[in-house]
Amino acid sequence: MDNSEKRLTENPGGKNHGSLTVRRSQKVEGTLCVPGDKSISHRAVILGSMAEGKSRISGFLPSDDCLGTIEAFRKLGVHAKRSSDTDIRIDSPGFSGLREPGDILDFGNSGTAVRLMTGVLSPSSFFAVLTGDESLRSRPMGRVTDPLKTMGARIDGPQDGRNLPLAIRGSRLRGIHHVNTNKSAQVKSSLLLAGLNAEGPTSVEEPVPTRDHTERMIPFFGGTVRRDGTGSVTVLPGPLKGREISVPGDFSSAAFFIVLALINPDSRIRLENVGLNPTRTAFMKILDAMGVRSLGVKETASGTGTEPTGTLDVSFSEFNGIDIPAEWIPNAIDEIPALSVLAVFARGTTRIRGAAELRVKESDRIRSMCESLSAVGVSVEEFPDGLSIHGQGPEPRLSGGKVDSRNDHRIAMSMSVLGSRLPPGVTLSIEGTDFISTSFPGFGDLYNRITG
Ligand code: S3P
Repeated sequence: MDNSEKRLTENPGGKNHGSLTVRRSQKVEGTLCVPGDKSISHRAVILGSMAEGKSRISGFLPSDDCLGTIEAFRKLGVHAKRSSDTDIRIDSPGFSGLREPGDILDFGNSGTAVRLMTGVLSPSSFFAVLTGDESLRSRPMGRVTDPLKTMGARIDGPQDGRNLPLAIRGSRLRGIHHVNTNKSAQVKSSLLLAGLNAEGPTSVEEPVPTRDHTERMIPFFGGTVRRDGTGSVTVLPGPLKGREISVPGDFSSAAFFIVLALINPDSRIRLENVGLNPTRTAFMKILDAMGVRSLGVKETASGTGTEPTGTLDVSFSEFNGIDIPAEWIPNAIDEIPALSVLAVFARGTTRIRGAAELRVKESDRIRSMCESLSAVGVSVEEFPDGLSIHGQGPEPRLSGGKVDSRNDHRIAMSMSVLGSRLPPGVTLSIEGTDFISTSFPGFGDLYNRITG
């Protein structure tokens, strides 16, 4: 194959939502920084905008999802300026100075933004309407609106306020104790953010700990959070003060390049400044349990931030299929599509159960991965709460053709990574790839650079 040929090429115009063509990689090597963490970027904008005064966010993820959160706060009267792609300056009157938006707040594809903002706006003094794109309008909102209504929120919308669009009439809230049965960090965060402006403490009890970026960041902005060590987190009402914060690279984005290195012989990739919050990195525990020994982790001092960060060195490995322990799933939930691709190269079967939440992500990710993997010749089994992938070892027989990512960024990137091991001369067209920019702008360029 011609060395100068791009491994991943864009075909704009396909099906309105873009497509990419991917082919076998020549080599997989290089040093890269993935863009800023999506969950932390949203939270930095939200807390920086709820705080009074000036905040500065560096390392911000300039993705469609996170830019949408900034846009929403502009409509609420916050001054926000991008001094560079990844550097955001916020000047806010604080939560009590936010004003009624003159327009609908549209959160596009972002479940995190709309669920967290429902919590932020419930104790406001005004009216707001929140909506999103077709995918987001089909996703469940009752998991946040039901407990918020118990706090006293006035929220209307289809299905008794359990689907978008949501109309919120700001009202006085009182703190509650909520058990996070959905194992959702978005639910926990929505309630904690509402609790900042409720009467009395608000606590969320977690049977399984979910990502804890919100409770790390609230004290950084001057709020009060208590963790009792048995899985409960409590926020006290109180004002926040503007701060400077830096966002590390997104571990969930790094996961695609980790898999790329693990499945390509002679690979060598270094990933710098990656967020290593333990509530996000169960994927590394899974790799270890599968027998991967070629992933080195070095923690580095964190800058102005609230999160551990580090450098990852990763190269090719052989590994085995395993049954993934269900209690690891919540802390690896966004990595399951990438893990499903990895499992194709394992010896033996990988079983992923206890992951029903995947059905209500940007697409039904269980169905999306089963369909996409079957389409390229991988044997899979679908369960209501997961899937199993029959690994073929390091040299699987894959076929090309076409797969539909269902406009889901993580499915599109996972299948791009798998495409790096197609047989020579075979191509795979991945439909619906425009949505990659919701979490990983520049993925295609980085992928092409690393694969030669
Ligand atoms: C997120 C929480 C997770 C995750 C999503 C981001 C967050 O969703 O899948 O990509 O930033 O809180 P759930 O809370 O629905 O599990």
